[in-house]
Amino acid sequence: METYETILTKLDIRRFSSKKISGELILKILEAARSTGTAFNAQDWKFILVQETSRLMQLAKDSTRGQWVEDAPLAIIVLTDPSQPDHDLDGGRAVQNMQLAAWSYGVGSGIFTFVNEDRMRKDFKIPKKMHITAVVVFGYPERKASGKRKNRKTLSEIVNLDEYGRGFDPKSLG
Ligand SMILES: Cc1cc2nc3c(=O)[nH]c(=O)nc-3n(C[C@H](O)[C@H](O)[C@H](O)COP(=O)(O)O)c2cc1C
Repeated sequence: METYETILTKLDIRRFSSKKISGELILKILEAARSTGTAFNAQDWKFILVQETSRLMQLAKDSTRGQWVEDAPLAIIVLTDPSQPDHDLDGGRAVQNMQLAAWSYGVGSGIFTFVNEDRMRKDFKIPKKMHITAVVVFGYPERKASGKRKNRKTLSEIVNLDEYGRGFDPKSLG
């Protein structure tokens, strides 16, 4: 899928079919994370690949807004090092690249950030020095989904010309 189309059609998916994701595709998703640029090229992150059903159930229990992970075939926990500037932005960019790479191969994904941190740290042996940025959950969508009509604000609601508050008319560009 062409990059721009991938961005425009990608939706967050929370219901998955039972189809497994191949090892080759999982590696592609991880490579998408690894290829992401970071501030000062710090690469200040670690990823935990979660595939076992019992572990996915554990993740669901440790989450407060991501219980839907229990039916997914794969999740990746994204950790960043808070001692690095912009670590959260670094993590967010890796999340987005993994989600877009997956979507371009027909694999859906959803993200959750609301977790019971103490439990999750204990269950997945996450050291205190690492920040839990997000959990990204992957799987083939249960139903065909495309975000051609996404629920998003218009450009004129979010863009300003030259100065904050000036507004923007997209027609002015063409
Ligand atoms: C920083 C961040 C945190 C999020 N946390 C959660 C979450 O805890 N649980 C959840 O179900 N979705 C979560 N989401 C997914 C958003 O709800 C989703 O991206 C948004 O509704 C747009 O979805 P769409 O692209 O399918 O329209 C999160 C997204 C972001 C970017």
